[in-house]
Amino acid sequence: MTMPSSLSEAACRVLGCPEPSEKARLTAAFVPAWRAGTIETIGQEQPPDRPARPAEPALKAPRELAKRKITQAPAGRIALLHALAHIELNAIDLAWDIVARFNDVDLPRAFYDDWLQVAEEEAKHYSLLAERLAALDSHYGALPAHDGLWLAAQDTGHDLLARLAVVPLVLEARGLDVTPAMIQRLKAVNDADSAAVLEVIYRDEIGHVAIGRRWFLWACEARQLDPRKAWVEAVRRHFKGQIKPPFNEAARRQAGLEPEDYLPLVDVP
Ligand SMILES: [Fe+2]
Ligand SMILES: [Fe+2]
Repeated sequence: MTMPSSLSEAACRVLGCPEPSEKARLTAAFVPAWRAGTIETIGQEQPPDRPARPAEPALKAPRELAKRKITQAPAGRIALLHALAHIELNAIDLAWDIVARFNDVDLPRAFYDDWLQVAEEEAKHYSLLAERLAALDSHYGALPAHDGLWLAAQDTGHDLLARLAVVPLVLEARGLDVTPAMIQRLKAVNDADSAAVLEVIYRDEIGHVAIGRRWFLWACEARQLDPRKAWVEAVRRHFKGQIKPPFNEAARRQAGLEPEDYLPLVDVP
């Protein structure tokens, strides 16, 4: 494998790679190369509007997808793991996208270190879920998936502050709210291996929200904006869904989010 000469070239190589396991493999190779200084510069390559994807899964509207019930029978667990694998695949692309897209902003090295750590962990999450799917005689691509996550990303592609306000601080924080119940349910049907994978993901995702918060505050500071007001404003403009309880207060607090930060978002129409 030839090493990219800049970080933005690395990002474009990952984003342009259609094969999910190869995306994960490239990520696992490029991130240590950045840390070791083999990839030194950021560069100016612009990421594509949409990342390359395999022919399968077919992408459908969320309402066209079957509901997933976690039971002893594998079908429901496969549907859950497949949906999560799809989210993690998007998350790999989102991490690389944020690294390369906002080259209009003068970002410190710590920004790249943080988001590459996120990329590396998302690739690990994808691979762990793909392994569980294989153990259940399935694979990523076997079921349809939805395209909502990347559409949310495209809506914030023009503005780092908006991207941070929506992707880590709304979407990934939402993951913290819903994952503990999935873990419990998987344990209840004796799928300890899948539960263990979700526990790894859950722990790492607290860190991703914390990283999102760190750079959101940095972006607010740079523009001299009040973070709470800026968050409500950005969510109102760029997020189509609803933000509603129950919230996982403990996990959100671990990531640095206090109820006073996110409760105002509940009222956003
Ligand atoms: Fe993840
Ligand atoms: Fe994440």
